[in-house]
Amino acid sequence: MKTKLDFLRMKQNNEPIVMLTAYDYPSAKYAEEAGVDMILVGDSLGMVVLGYDSTIPVTVDDMIHHTKAVKRGAADTFIVTDMPFMSYHVSKEDTMKSAARIMQESGAHALKVEGAKDVLYTISELTQAGIPVVAHLGLTPQSVGVLGGYKVQGKEAKEAKQLIQDAIKCEQAGAIAVVLECVPKQVAKQVAERLSIPTIGIGAGADTDGQVLVYHDVLTYGVERVPKFVQSFAKINEPILQGLSQYVSEVKKREFPKEAHTFSMKEEQLTALYG
Ligand code: KIV
Ligand code: NA
Repeated sequence: MKTKLDFLRMKQNNEPIVMLTAYDYPSAKYAEEAGVDMILVGDSLGMVVLGYDSTIPVTVDDMIHHTKAVKRGAADTFIVTDMPFMSYHVSKEDTMKSAARIMQESGAHALKVEGAKDVLYTISELTQAGIPVVAHLGLTPQSVGVLGGYKVQGKEAKEAKQLIQDAIKCEQAGAIAVVLECVPKQVAKQVAERLSIPTIGIGAGADTDGQVLVYHDVLTYGVERVPKFVQSFAKINEPILQGLSQYVSEVKKREFPKEAHTFSMKEEQLTALYG
C-alpha cells in the first residue's frame, strides 16, 4: 500500500497520483484492481449514492458505514475519508470525537476537511493527534450556500492570491496533500509549484500533482450529466439499463428462467411425493 511518503516521492518524481472516489465494496474492489493510488470516500456519496441534492445531509455514521465497505473491497489501498458537514466546526472536542470515531470504526488512513481559516487549526490539531489530513480548497461543496453555487473559485487575482496563501497555510498546518476543486489552471499550477506536498486536482487543469474524480462520473453510472471538468471514460448506464430491461422483458414473456437455471427432483422422489 502506498502511503504519505510514496505520494511525496511521486510528486518529486513528477509521477501523476491517481485518486478516485469509492463508496462500497465493488467500487473499491474495481478501483484497487484498476491501480488507483488512493481512494477517497467522498461525502459526494450523499449525492451519487444516497440521492441527496447536496453533501450537507451526510453524517459521520454515513461516512463510517461506507468507508467500512470500501476497506473490505480495497484492503491494500490508502483510503481518505471526508469529514462530513459540521462534524469539524462545533468545538474542538466535537471535532476530535468525530475524527476519532471515523478513524477507529472505519479504518480510514486519513481524513479530508474543506476550507482554510478556522479549519487550519483543525488540520493542525488532527495532525498532532496522529491523523493524516488532506485539505480541500477552491470549490468546497459543504459551503455551497455561502459560495452561492457550484462555481469556479479563484478567478479574480485577489481571490487567487488568498487561495494560494491558504494552500501554503494548509501545508504548514500539517496537511499531507491538498485537493483543489474547480480553480483556474494557472492558480492550481502556482499552488503545485509552491507546495512540497502533493496537490490533487478536480477541475483544476493538468498541472496538479494528481487528479481525482467521482467514480460515478468516470463511468457515467446513475448520473444524468457530468460537469465540464469530467471525462466519461465509460458509459455503464447503457449496459445496465439494457440488461435490466431485458430481465424485465424475459420474465414478463416467461422466457426466463430457462431449463438451465432450474432444479429438478428425481423420478422416484416425485413418486414418493405424489404416491
Ligand atoms: O466528496 C468528494 O467526492 C470530493 C472530491 C470531489 C474531491 O470531495
Ligand atoms: Na467531498
